[in-house]
Amino acid sequence: MFGAKTQALQKRAMEVIPLGVNSNFRFWGEGITPYVDKAKGAYLWDVDGKKYIDYRMAFGPIILGHSFDEVDQKVIEEIQKGLLFAMTSELEVSVAEMIIEMAPAVEMVRMACSGTEATMHAIRVARAYTGRDIILKFEGNYHGMHDHALWSTYAPVDAYGNKRSPIPVPASSGIPKSMREFIITLPFNDFEGFERVMRSYGEQIAAVITEPCQGNCAAINPQDGFLQLIRQKTKEYGCVFILDEVKTGFRIANGGAQEYYGIKPDLATYAKALGNGYPAAAFGGKKEIMSIIGHGVAIGGTYTNNKPGIAGAYATLSLLKSKPILKTIAERGQRLTDGLKDIFEENDIPVVMTGYPAMFSFSLNIDEVKSQRDWAKSDHNLYLELAEKAIARGVMPDHDAREPWFMCYEHSDADVDETLNVYAEIVKSVKG
Ligand SMILES: Cc1ncc(COP(=O)(O)O)c(C=O)c1O
Repeated sequence: MFGAKTQALQKRAMEVIPLGVNSNFRFWGEGITPYVDKAKGAYLWDVDGKKYIDYRMAFGPIILGHSFDEVDQKVIEEIQKGLLFAMTSELEVSVAEMIIEMAPAVEMVRMACSGTEATMHAIRVARAYTGRDIILKFEGNYHGMHDHALWSTYAPVDAYGNKRSPIPVPASSGIPKSMREFIITLPFNDFEGFERVMRSYGEQIAAVITEPCQGNCAAINPQDGFLQLIRQKTKEYGCVFILDEVKTGFRIANGGAQEYYGIKPDLATYAKALGNGYPAAAFGGKKEIMSIIGHGVAIGGTYTNNKPGIAGAYATLSLLKSKPILKTIAERGQRLTDGLKDIFEENDIPVVMTGYPAMFSFSLNIDEVKSQRDWAKSDHNLYLELAEKAIARGVMPDHDAREPWFMCYEHSDADVDETLNVYAEIVKSVKG
């Protein structure tokens, strides 16, 4: 799939970096893992100089475009005034004010450097606030690399057991077995199962954490009323509702899924689009909950006020607030998703489109996808065959069918047309 320089760099990398990548998710296999030279706008170039329309967008952070000039200029201007301090700057306060203005449920906020850190801190705060230990999460959702929620994310679904009594499956060796005591897992969109578990364990649960859609499993949407049910039951049993908006925040609406679905969690977590690629993350929510931080509740980090992240967030949020950026992305994304759907239908390939125009996916040769258990039955081989053919033609979705396609402001109408032309041809070719 990739050229000689890519192959050579992978060989070199694999000698010194486990799997030759700094995150397991960037490894596609020996001989088929891309290595990047540069990116600008909606495009990236691999080390062989081949250009792609990029739909991976760094796993979602790039909302404006790669190396977006106005954001980069602000970061350069700010880092020249100092990179990192053991004290707080006015810019941090301004970023907190902007997040609070944009996110309906956020009354107070703390910054972090990654989504992993944001969800880990939110879980600590929820446990401290409730005095309880158990976390309820949904199969197929991913909340970062810490041990508290790295359960039932990517396992073969057979390992999850019966849906009436799911088995939490750790996604890695090295997670202490005793952590199992603190986790309950359920299929996403399982209304009946959720009500049953809340009836049995509600009073022991510190937090119910969920992505609004399954941003790490083909962007499977919540069914009508599912997020509302979580809101209602967590309130009833005194649990903290954590909405993990790391992928949806500042992407599907300025106010994220909270605005999109009109739902107010107790805490929300952010990263990715918040900084257009700079290392900015945040968690925040109700003042009553957030204000326990510092009163017997430890939350900190040397780099939580890193200037590139803070300045990147400041510039990105300023642009989102002042221009109809997400509206433009949504219009182009809608044309792309409609076009892809038509192509599959014209070729008699059953397709389920999921997600939102700014962050979408599709599952093939299946009629309904409500949970990871359903998605596992879709045609991954066909998805992959098409992805590899598209990449060869200069259109790059992720190699993993679970990862959504991400749009940015700089994806043009011409990029959408080119992508649809490529898919029209390759889908026809696989049908023979
Ligand atoms: C919903 C969600 N939460 C948390 C994380 C972890 O974020 P990070 O990779 O910045 O640690 C991710 C990463 O993909 C995510 O999609």
